[in-house]
Amino acid sequence: MKNIQVLLNEDEIIKRTKELSKEIKSTYKDEEVIFVSTLKGSIIFASELFKNYEGDAKIEFIRVSSYSGKESSKSVKMIVPLDEEKVKNKNILIVEDIVDSGYTLEYLYNYFNSLNVLSVRCVSLLNKECKRKVKVDPTWYGFKIDDLFVVGYGLDYDELYRNLPFVGVLK
Ligand code: IMP
Ligand code: MG
Repeated sequence: MKNIQVLLNEDEIIKRTKELSKEIKSTYKDEEVIFVSTLKGSIIFASELFKNYEGDAKIEFIRVSSYSGKESSKSVKMIVPLDEEKVKNKNILIVEDIVDSGYTLEYLYNYFNSLNVLSVRCVSLLNKECKRKVKVDPTWYGFKIDDLFVVGYGLDYDELYRNLPFVGVLK
C-alpha cells in the first residue's frame, strides 16, 4: 500500500456524521426523506448517516461518473439510473462523498429539479470548496478540506483504498 497520511480519523468522522443527522432531521422534521446515495464513493458515509437518522427515511442509489484518475471532468454521465417513480413528490437528499469542482452536484441538482420532486438538498462528507468551478454548494457538509487528493472511507484512487476506515492523503 502507498504512503497514506491520516487527515480525518474514524472517531471524528462518526461524531460529525451524528451531528449532521441531527441537523438534517431538524429540517425535515416529520416529513419523509429519500436518501440518494451516489455510488460508489458515498456508501460508507451514507450508511453511517442513514443508521443514525432518527426520522422516516428510505434509501436509493444512483451512479454518475465524472472523474478519471485525479481530475474532474465536465461531462457527467449517469451510469446507474434511478427508478424515477420512487422519487416523485418526495424530499430528496443527495448523499455525496466529496464536492470538488461541483460539476457532479450541479448535474444532480438539475436532474432532480427536472423531475417532480418536493425538494432537493445535498449532504457531502467533504467539501473541497477551493476547487469549485461552478457556483454550487452542498446544503450540509462534514468537513472542509484543502486542495488535497484524499482516499478512504469510500473514496478511491482508481478503485483502491475505499475500505480504509479513515480519510487520508495519498502522497
Ligand atoms: P466534482 O464533480 O469535481 O465535484 O467531483 C465529484 C466526484 O469526484 C466525487 O464524488 C468523487 O468521486 C471524485 N473526487 C473528487 N475529489 C476527490 C478526491 O480528493 N479523492 C477521491 N475522489 C475525488
Ligand atoms: Mg470516485
